[in-house]
Amino acid sequence: MKTLFKNPVQIVTVDTKSKHFKRGKELSEIGLLSEHSILVENGIIKDIIPNSSLSKISADKTVDLEDLIVLPGLIECHTHAAYAGSRADEFLLRLKGATYEDIAKNGGGISSTMQAVRNSSFEELVKLLKPRVAHFISQGVTTLEIKSGYGLSYYDEIKLLQVINYFRTNSSIEIIPTFLGAHTFPPEYKNDHKQYLDLITNELLPYIIKNKLADQVDAFCEKTAFSADEVDKIFTKAKKLGYKLRLHTDQFNSIGGLDVALRHKALSVDHLEVIPDEEIPKLSKSETVAVLLPGVSFFLDYDYAPARKLIENNAIVALSTDYNPGSSHIPNLHIIMQLAALKMKMSVEEIISAVTVNAAKAVDKNELAGSIEIGKQADFAVFAAKEYSEIIYNIGINLNKYTIKKGEIIYHNEEN
Ligand code: NIG
Ligand code: FE
Repeated sequence: MKTLFKNPVQIVTVDTKSKHFKRGKELSEIGLLSEHSILVENGIIKDIIPNSSLSKISADKTVDLEDLIVLPGLIECHTHAAYAGSRADEFLLRLKGATYEDIAKNGGGISSTMQAVRNSSFEELVKLLKPRVAHFISQGVTTLEIKSGYGLSYYDEIKLLQVINYFRTNSSIEIIPTFLGAHTFPPEYKNDHKQYLDLITNELLPYIIKNKLADQVDAFCEKTAFSADEVDKIFTKAKKLGYKLRLHTDQFNSIGGLDVALRHKALSVDHLEVIPDEEIPKLSKSETVAVLLPGVSFFLDYDYAPARKLIENNAIVALSTDYNPGSSHIPNLHIIMQLAALKMKMSVEEIISAVTVNAAKAVDKNELAGSIEIGKQADFAVFAAKEYSEIIYNIGINLNKYTIKKGEIIYHNEEN
């Protein structure tokens, strides 16, 4: 089956010359084509053809993209979208001056969502997650990572991963489940860290990979959560079992997580709002992606990660929503792109690289997705705009008209 996506006003290829990621200055090399069309065969990009040669092309189907801009399908590489309950009460406390960390210390925060998840059935959690996945698809997202981390017991972590895996089978986009049992210590293990670490390393890690519920592990390295040593223990075991690694680190305090993640060659280090200046060069040559989450800084009203310094130091920078009920209740990747421009001074081109091929690298899908290159999956986000900068300029307006996964239109906004 051959489909021709014909004559868009622009194609933003994010071409990597088959390197499949962009670091430092490369983030601003956007790969812009006009007067070209894309030929897709069996879900894969077969050719990118100058319009002057189109008469030689035969296809089973033609999709007219006149006046539209084609980007690689957006990659949302860090979410906690599988949750129950609401933390609006905490939001109101924060508006009155309480801090996120105070609320967590007093039994709220992650523990409050944990309680709601433990009280919810598989079916209830599926029902809650469904519109959230659909909402990401409507923005042009074609690959979506979702973490566990709100069950924090053997039974509830597995239940949450089963919910996420339900969408891996029953959704039109690619869903990537990540095991985040090391999100925080649940109340029953607050005074017995060793026992909770044993539960993770001896029971959950082996069960989850054996049953193909996830092949990525994440942890939260923070004073109120896991120490660098504790993360090291989890990563050492996880790596032996064949997992790929991610790490929440340097969000509020810098306590050694970065070194542990780099030593274990993690796929990504996420947050980095308080990364010390002298640590930034450590990312210069590393292939670990720096995933920045400006929605958290906006939602909690504190420091933004030093995007400019990271890019100047040649890091591989990606962006994501970190969508979750407590620190970034923002299920919208376009708003994150806009915050990156306004608050972190990233250029529009850098931002596009950060939500496509670099985000794909953070979930180890960059050889298949994240750029429009021959041989890659035909995953596209098609925007109703004449210039790609309009995606950033139009705050609060969804310009996405089509979401295309492996050459199939899976979402169409007729209003655009
Ligand atoms: O990435 N930092 C830890 N985890 C999430 C917040 C989760 C929550 O507050 O529920 C984050 O910010
Ligand atoms: Fe997170």
